[in-house]
Amino acid sequence: MIRLKFTEMAKILITGSADGLGQLSAKSLADQGHQVVLHARNSERARYAKQKVPGAEHVISGDLSDLDETINVAYGANAWGRFDAVIHNAGVYQTPTREIFIVNTIAPYILTCLIQKPKRLIYLSSSMHLHGRANLENFKNDYPRISYSDSKLHVMMLCMAVARKWSDVYANAVDPGWVPTKMGGQGAPDDLQKGYETQTWLAVSNDSRPKVSGRYYYHLAERRYNPQAGDVMLQERFLSLCRDITGVPFPQ
Ligand SMILES: NC(=O)c1ccc[n+]([C@@H]2O[C@H](COP(=O)([O-])OP(=O)(O)OC[C@H]3O[C@@H](n4cnc5c(N)ncnc54)[C@H](OP(=O)(O)O)[C@@H]3O)[C@@H](O)[C@H]2O)c1
Repeated sequence: MIRLKFTEMAKILITGSADGLGQLSAKSLADQGHQVVLHARNSERARYAKQKVPGAEHVISGDLSDLDETINVAYGANAWGRFDAVIHNAGVYQTPTREIFIVNTIAPYILTCLIQKPKRLIYLSSSMHLHGRANLENFKNDYPRISYSDSKLHVMMLCMAVARKWSDVYANAVDPGWVPTKMGGQGAPDDLQKGYETQTWLAVSNDSRPKVSGRYYYHLAERRYNPQAGDVMLQERFLSLCRDITGVPFPQ
């Protein structure tokens, strides 16, 4: 059992917290006495999320496959003032490529840009990002051929760009492992608790270890990431394409 040293109460937003790792992270943080704001795709899922995490403070609704709704999620979050941590957790896997692109790549970009800068940002990536391609030439296609692995590389690129540009924020990424959630499937071999422990540790721990930026973790240990994520030219091109598609500039 790993002993974690936590801060006093923190205010944390977790996207996609109606189910899976988002819900488990939210429960764990709320049980520790932190102020947790949930997020769900619509009002029905929001009610479900609140039932599952009764200790949470509030639920913001908004479908991250819709750009306007995603912008409204950011405004809804800002109504709560500055968060100590935002966990960009929501994601989709076996869905049409356009939905993968919008939910996994574009929504975290919009939310990062529009939510008042928190002290800590945590991005849920995946070991599958190691096989991803930046695929930037596909961004402006109506039906972008962006795979799940590509989208999880984009999340890494976004995280590393934020870490480079915002020196006052700790921005890090997590591979939760292949765990038995709705996305991972019942036969997933990894430990479910370890699947959310790293994000909650990065969000609130008072240890010195998580007070870093631009790192990628698996089960509390740092791992190497795809070098494309650290390529500054690719990051800049990525940010400028995201700006063109969404109309939302990246705040410097
Ligand atoms: N499970 C794994 O093995 C694994 C491995 C590597 C990385 N990850 C990453 O870990 C994160 C969490 O995955 P998980 O396993 O917990 O998946 P999950 O059980 O499928 O949960 C995903 C969450 O995201 C929400 N979501 C999906 N699309 C949304 C949309 N358009 N608008 C708003 N919310 C939306 C879902 O809402 P609903 O419940 O309403 O559908 C759900 O709450 C993801 O980013 C995933 O890529 C997971």
